[in-house]
Amino acid sequence: MPDTLTLTDNRTGLTYEVAIEDGAVRANALRQIKVDEADFGLMSYDPAFLNTASVRSAVTFIDGDVGILRYRGYPIEQLATESTYLETAFLLLFGELPTKDELARFEHEITFHTFVHENVKTLMTGFRYDAHPMGMFVSVVAALGTLYPEAAKVDDPDVRLAQVIRLIAKVPTIAAWSYRHNKGLPFVYPDNDLGFAENFLSMMFKMAEPKYEPDPALVRALEVLFILHADHEQNCSANAMRAIGSSKVDPYSALAGAAAALYGPLHGGANEAVLRMLAQIGDVKNVPEFVERVKSGEGRLMGFGHRVYKNYDPRAKIIKETADSVFEVTGRNPLLDIALELEKIALEDEYFVSRKLYPNVDFYSGLIYQALGLPTAMFPVLFAIPRTAGWLAQWLEGIVDPEQKIARPRQIYIGADERSYVPIEQRSAGVRDLVAAS
Ligand code: CMC
Repeated sequence: MPDTLTLTDNRTGLTYEVAIEDGAVRANALRQIKVDEADFGLMSYDPAFLNTASVRSAVTFIDGDVGILRYRGYPIEQLATESTYLETAFLLLFGELPTKDELARFEHEITFHTFVHENVKTLMTGFRYDAHPMGMFVSVVAALGTLYPEAAKVDDPDVRLAQVIRLIAKVPTIAAWSYRHNKGLPFVYPDNDLGFAENFLSMMFKMAEPKYEPDPALVRALEVLFILHADHEQNCSANAMRAIGSSKVDPYSALAGAAAALYGPLHGGANEAVLRMLAQIGDVKNVPEFVERVKSGEGRLMGFGHRVYKNYDPRAKIIKETADSVFEVTGRNPLLDIALELEKIALEDEYFVSRKLYPNVDFYSGLIYQALGLPTAMFPVLFAIPRTAGWLAQWLEGIVDPEQKIARPRQIYIGADERSYVPIEQRSAGVRDLVAAS
């Protein structure tokens, strides 16, 4: 049997054969289907890209039906147990696990690029005292690009690599300083003796002590969370990174756009909503009543369900185990009992079972962040730090892909046909009146 699809256009009676490649047909193959020579040709219409592959990618694999997530072929469970965030970032960026020497060099390069230009301090102090840390993060990442004008040479591999190192190294500094600004605390400079996650905690929490020494269990928990959040194939922000990057703008501007996409409550903000929900439930005894309200259509069970995973999100399993190691140090988060009871009831309930609704990555992560002393407004920023590696891996892949061009979707125009300009005194109703009447 040939790997082709035969299509009959019932408007003309003509038949077309279209190649099937990797389980997909090229949307452009439809353009040959026309009613006459003047016809533009058939398009595919796919709002929200529900069934459109926009890239061929070798970075991350997800099988949502069985709950599989792999970076460059390595199962997320193995990376979360065996790897570090920087080793995982190297894997995502360059396709293979590093040798000992490669890893040492990469770690050194990242560590020695964590400082930011002093102008960044001035910029950050210009924000209002209560500016959202994610708003500061997005703006400062974009501003960082102005300090490295050579970053515009995106076709030069050495220039690309230098910006990749700078971005991965500097995002924790920007993130921590956004928190310090909110608190009215002095900015803490990076400490090159510390590892990636340790240094971030030091920049967040160091006060008068000469050296900040976080508990190793908490450092490891943060490393695991960073590994789990490092990439998730073509999600909203990765798609933004690739689309903006396709214009060949510098990676700071593209990454600021990706971070802005992550800021949205449907993407990086759900873990905050989980905490609000658990606090609102207030007590384990209120869980059954809350579940009934969700089932009757009164709101959603936040941290449950996923567009891709129709099984337990593999990241949620690992986060649940990580939570235990954190609570051993910090004491148990009282909201955990409510979360466990919610999960238990939901996993047995026909409503959730039949809709394949399982806990996602956000169900337990907020509880850990809260136990680490991190305020809810910082949650999307904590997501953005490790996702920087994923965004850059996606960007690097896109920029050298010979099939990629500037991202420019088609549209189905539904507006007015050509009409003549109406002088102002002859117009009957104002636009706002028309909108109000519709
Ligand atoms: N609680 C209750 N019912 C739900 C939920 C939920 N969390 N999620 C989906 N459903 C129901 C929904 O009402 C619908 O039922 P019916 O068929 O009777 O109308 C059915 O399940 C399918 O839902 P959908 O909205 O078509 O599914 P979707 O793939 O468009 O939505 C989702 C995916 C993640 C937006 C959604 O599950 C949701 O809103 N979950 C809660 C928010 C959340 O936890 N988001 C984090 C996502 S993971 C992190 C990230 O992507 O950044």
